[in-house]
Amino acid sequence: GFLKGLQGSHTCLRRGVVTEAQALANRGKDDDHGPGDQEGFEAVQQERLAQAERSVLISCHSKTNEKRFLKYLSLHGDIQNSFFYDSYGTYAVVEFASPESVASLHKAVSIPAVNHESLVPFKSRLLSLRSLGAADRPTGQTGPQCRPQTAVPMNELIQTLSQEETIDQQVTCLTAAFQLTEENTRLRFLVCSLLRDIAASYFPECNVRPFGSSVNGFGKLGCDLDMFLDLDGISGRSLKMPNAGLALEYQMKRCNSERAVTQSILSVVGECVDRFGPGCVGVQKILNARCPLVRVAMKTSELLHLYGRLDGRVRGLVFAVRCWARAHAITSSVPGAWITNFSLTVMVLFFLQRRPAPVIPTLDHLHSLAGPADKSVIEGNDCTFVSDLSRITLQDNTETLEQLLRGFFDFYGSFQFGRMSISIRKGTEQNKPEVAPLHIQNPFETSLNVSKNVNGTQLDRFVALCQDAAWHLEQSAAGAPSAPPPQRGADTAPAPWGLAALLLPSQTAGVKGRRKQKRELASVRLKGLLESLKKNNNR
Ligand code: GTP
Ligand code: MG
Repeated sequence: GFLKGLQGSHTCLRRGVVTEAQALANRGKDDDHGPGDQEGFEAVQQERLAQAERSVLISCHSKTNEKRFLKYLSLHGDIQNSFFYDSYGTYAVVEFASPESVASLHKAVSIPAVNHESLVPFKSRLLSLRSLGAADRPTGQTGPQCRPQTAVPMNELIQTLSQEETIDQQVTCLTAAFQLTEENTRLRFLVCSLLRDIAASYFPECNVRPFGSSVNGFGKLGCDLDMFLDLDGISGRSLKMPNAGLALEYQMKRCNSERAVTQSILSVVGECVDRFGPGCVGVQKILNARCPLVRVAMKTSELLHLYGRLDGRVRGLVFAVRCWARAHAITSSVPGAWITNFSLTVMVLFFLQRRPAPVIPTLDHLHSLAGPADKSVIEGNDCTFVSDLSRITLQDNTETLEQLLRGFFDFYGSFQFGRMSISIRKGTEQNKPEVAPLHIQNPFETSLNVSKNVNGTQLDRFVALCQDAAWHLEQSAAGAPSAPPPQRGADTAPAPWGLAALLLPSQTAGVKGRRKQKRELASVRLKGLLESLKKNNNR
């Protein structure tokens, strides 16, 4: 069904976080549907959630007559936006201009007739289109155009990139191919809003909000969807008691700890999603996981989003490095002792701060530019930074993406990981405060290391692969300064070069033979997985 169709999807509930794999958002300048970049981050999130709440998801025939379909739905009110996509069947997302239209639509939706089965009586905004009678059968020969929700496969990407003429163009092309689309972003917010409906049966004031790469501007089509079940409306944190007179308060159950409360809520919500949610299958509850402070993680998403907007090269470089890291199994979709996309992103930001003319400012600088409205302290952590981009003056750095990409590999190919820690707050190397192969200071919880999980073997691989990549780029730059694609025949596809060549499995010295490397990696992974399972069981 719907959730299953989200590429590489796995559903799990962690403490404070519901994860569901799938796809989302390019809030580019030419985007005329989504909320604009000039609005604040928080306002954009709110607007997208409101959009999602006015939307329904309809399973339909691949040959559905789009015009007639939309005309039928518009009996319930104006349609603001709609698109179709394919994922184990054809689906339409229809956003009405007004929430009343969804209520009106609900009145016109009927309960399916079943013969040998029984229905779970739960109504949601996941609907199916039925055509009744021969006259209403889908007539369109071609059917509606479906918007892709998955990234192009690596082989195809390598071919496409090889046709570009400069590395800068390759990076731009890769970013365009991988970044979340407007439609995918809408789907992500729709998932949040549909889950909210389920949680709202018990907690009407709750909100489900996305964070992480779904909203930080660095999400790739198919990346997971990190969600936060926000119950602050009920927690009483913001309520003031009167000083005198009578007052009423709710009787409420008490638990030993906040963690216990969260676990109990997520356990029930997870159960409801699994048992009642149409299309929701295989919900796995991971209630013991160690989780970052979710509110701080949301602030981190906002910070990364801001860095991505400051200079177009930031996102390009992050996308290129993430893609390269995935191609060489430096990162993985399975948690373990390897570097995460989040750590990699912070490493790219740090590198950009370390250029002779820094491309982006330090977090301390962004903190110093903050106004009173930007102040944010979350559980003792100062998460304040400026939100008004016009207050930030950038330095004059004119390096090309090619230079920056090479610079990145050079920088980390010779970084003093043994002694130094990476801090985007200070924008300079700091002495390592603790023993860990890789130390990257958490931007807001500064005493924490975001790459604590990384072991020496994984770090060594990363360094070796950086050196390898730097060497490759140097060769191609030395051979042809403007790096035109070599060996280009008239009727043959151009040989992978530049960034495309970096995405091929590594063959050169410094990195072990491919098969051996794969075998070793698989066994390290398996060991990591077993260890984490053991840890979970022992809790
Ligand atoms: P992908 O899902 O890999 O595309 O990237 P992501 O940025 O969404 O990373 P992930 O899903 O692993 O985590 C979601 C968010 O949680 C991140 O964006 C961070 O804000 C936060 N986060 C992840 N790992 C850590 C960590 O080790 N420490 C802290 N404090 N926060 C983390
Ligand atoms: Mg994520």
